[in-house]
Amino acid sequence: MNEDCSAHEALVKELNDPTMRADYARPYDGYKVGPIAAVLGWLLVTSGTIVYGKKPSYGKFKAVEVIARIPYQSWEVATYTLLTGFYGNEKRAIELTKTSAFSRQAQDNETMHVVVITQICKRLRCVGWFRHMFIPLVFAFFYFWTIYLLYMVSRKSALELNYLFETHAYHQYSEFLALYGEQLRDTPVMSDFLVLYGRNVRSEYELFESIRNDELIHRNRSIKEIELRRK
Ligand SMILES: [Fe+2]
Ligand SMILES: [Fe+2]
Repeated sequence: MNEDCSAHEALVKELNDPTMRADYARPYDGYKVGPIAAVLGWLLVTSGTIVYGKKPSYGKFKAVEVIARIPYQSWEVATYTLLTGFYGNEKRAIELTKTSAFSRQAQDNETMHVVVITQICKRLRCVGWFRHMFIPLVFAFFYFWTIYLLYMVSRKSALELNYLFETHAYHQYSEFLALYGEQLRDTPVMSDFLVLYGRNVRSEYELFESIRNDELIHRNRSIKEIELRRK
């Protein structure tokens, strides 16, 4: 595990404390996104609600996590493309390299979410081929190119759209923990992928708590990327 990942894992643990979490969330809780992100974010959340329902569920999380990886991969490819044009500008090259490093780390994190949740869904037999595999797969293809193009023309809108997506994910995991907490505490998690990733959780409660915290970190980081450019 590299230094950035170790720092992320340490923060994930700290955010289990409700006071720490509220303090960490507060500076970006009321962030107002621009019109492009607002429209696309509304479309994204509304279509997710229509296809997978309003209430959080294992199946909905599985589908959401297939999609959640995509913006980070798009950002990585977009920053790589931009570096082809801006390698002569050292300040810009540093910014782009930092975004690229974060996006690679976030891709691995979201991949861990989708792999572990998919194993749980397989055990519970709670997903269908069309709704939970085919639709997210097709959507992911178009989403990748939409985010890539959006990042190239309006980096701010691309980051703000991710802020909205991660805000939604954060609330859905929080609601899931509140609704099914007791049952989740009694369900152990055995996952070779979690061992490979380097995260230790004993129960599904601890797993979903840690994923909720990942999404909050991704939410804040999306806006911090915008602020870094302004400095
Ligand atoms: Fe996720
Ligand atoms: Fe996320």
